[in-house]
Amino acid sequence: MSKPLAGKVALVTGGSRGLGAATVRLLAEQGADVAFTYVSSEKQAQAVVDEVHGKGAKAVAFKSDQADTSRAPALIDDVVAHFGGLDILVNNAAIATGQGRTVDDPDADTAALDRMHATNYLGVIAVIRAASRVLRADGRIITVSSGLGSRVGTPGAADYAATKSGIERYTMGVARDLGPRNITANVVEAGLMEGGMKTPDPETLKTLVGSLSLQRMGHPEEIAVAIAFLASPAASYVTGAVLDAHGGYNA
Ligand SMILES: NC(=O)c1ccc[n+]([C@@H]2O[C@H](COP(=O)([O-])OP(=O)(O)OC[C@H]3O[C@@H](n4cnc5c(N)ncnc54)[C@H](OP(=O)(O)O)[C@@H]3O)[C@@H](O)[C@H]2O)c1
Repeated sequence: MSKPLAGKVALVTGGSRGLGAATVRLLAEQGADVAFTYVSSEKQAQAVVDEVHGKGAKAVAFKSDQADTSRAPALIDDVVAHFGGLDILVNNAAIATGQGRTVDDPDADTAALDRMHATNYLGVIAVIRAASRVLRADGRIITVSSGLGSRVGTPGAADYAATKSGIERYTMGVARDLGPRNITANVVEAGLMEGGMKTPDPETLKTLVGSLSLQRMGHPEEIAVAIAFLASPAASYVTGAVLDAHGGYNA
């Protein structure tokens, strides 16, 4: 495989599992030194590091709770101290809480919903703010959203959708702010993934898959390639864009 990312340093939030792990592997295969975060899956994080090292590339994992916004500056300092700089930020870490429960549900776990807002929205903003101060010229910010970031196709997803819509719009503002430094900022709207975060109940899943043009769930690797494209030198004139990789949810 060619190494379009040779000499680049990437940070992928939430790289221990799912799409984040697939992205860590792909960016490392393409030549980047890759730092990633996790919050609780230490063994899985170490397995991803070992796998990357086994292929002769560099990776390091940092335990860093994205819901704690005060952690973001120290995380970015750790990445720069370890790899000497930062070129690519992939905002991938997120949780899905309360899916399927409507906003008027009296038993809603509002504390858990608040933690989701902190993780998926405020935490992403904190990492972008801290990273933006050190990102080198020709840098890349890629924010992982969801089809629900632009269209809420089922009941019971208001809070999750709001976090995704919010970081999409924030990323557009970042594209405007950092464009003069030749740093791009884009969104990938991911879709339902095999092996990813908790999927909805079987009936909702069937409806959701039936609403997709491709009539199937995606694989993390199919979405990681969209992220890798936006991280690559080939995407130098793409900024403020949303790249849909969700099997045609909006088609
Ligand atoms: N899966 C889907 O069907 C789907 C659909 C549309 C969009 N997406 C989006 O795609 C992205 C990846 O989803 P996924 O399914 O791959 O997720 P996943 O398998 O649940 O993995 C989530 C990753 O984020 C990390 N993480 C969670 N909370 C964190 C926190 N507070 N601080 C730091 N790291 C944290 C996890 O670390 P630990 O392993 O330590 O918990 C893990 O590495 C997310 O942005 C999600 O919203 C997913």
